[in-house]
Amino acid sequence: MNRYQAALLGLGLLFMLLLYVGLPGPPEQTSWLCRDPNVTVLAGLTRGSPPIFYREVLPLHQPHRVEVVLLHGKAFNSHTWEQLGTLQLLSRRGYRAVALDLPGFGNSAPSKEASTEAGRAKLLQQALQDLEAKNVVLVSPSLSGRYALPFLVRGHHQLRGFVPIAPTSTQNYTQKQFLAVKTPTLIVYGELDHVLAQESLQQLRHLPNHSVVKLHNAGHACYLHQPQDFHLVLLAFLDHLP
Ligand SMILES: *[C@@H]1O[C@H](CO)[C@@H](O)[C@H](O)[C@H]1NC(C)=O
Ligand SMILES: *[C@@H]1O[C@H](CO)[C@@H](O)[C@H](O)[C@H]1NC(C)=O
Ligand SMILES: *[C@@H]1O[C@H](CO)[C@@H](O)[C@H](O)[C@H]1NC(C)=O
Repeated sequence: MNRYQAALLGLGLLFMLLLYVGLPGPPEQTSWLCRDPNVTVLAGLTRGSPPIFYREVLPLHQPHRVEVVLLHGKAFNSHTWEQLGTLQLLSRRGYRAVALDLPGFGNSAPSKEASTEAGRAKLLQQALQDLEAKNVVLVSPSLSGRYALPFLVRGHHQLRGFVPIAPTSTQNYTQKQFLAVKTPTLIVYGELDHVLAQESLQQLRHLPNHSVVKLHNAGHACYLHQPQDFHLVLLAFLDHLP
């Protein structure tokens, strides 16, 4: 290597070092959430078996009677509702809200009980009991229908409201089973979700007390695509529950 080449190599290395030092690190995951210094998001594990990881916010003031329990889709977990600012918003609006990690997602270990329909209903029931969640409004997107639907058909009398967002598993139940559920229901789906939204809507329409909101310019995970619209319709529904 001659001096010229060595100098070039040295310059190249220096340049790389500068680039490395000078570049900002990977963006912090939480940087896009609406930070709210007044809301504390608590985290914990339920006492049950299996333990379920959850994130919880308490009402900042003027507590409402209903409590919101948020499930999640396949690519998500309880953190999604914190990143989206849903937990913080609900707290500010006077709601206790709890987001769960379903077994095998986020910080919850997989569970054998989750392999049967009855097991999943029982698991959710146990988690609500451990959390002392009463007057629950259950928010259930996509894959979480595996838990929410069996729980709904068995335990709807325990729910004050139900917010399905293109959930799975609706095909597993009959019109008669849906007709028996008097729980006030807000069906939310994204305009661009052409598969699961329509399939679930066909079934959920049999719930006697439901309203439907289609979020424009939103796909299957419509709450992620249009969080402001989603938050507005969710709050309107919650605020008007008897
Ligand atoms: C936090 O609470 C303080 C005192 O009540 C208030 O002045 C402030 O505006 C609140 N901040 C947010 C982001 O709500
Ligand atoms: C649907 O019902 C069948 C038969 O009862 C059951 O084996 C299956 O696990 C159910 N699927 C879901 C997703 O609940
Ligand atoms: C239907 O649900 C709404 C809330 O969305 C509630 O105000 C109303 O009382 C319910 N109607 C019946 C007949 O239960």
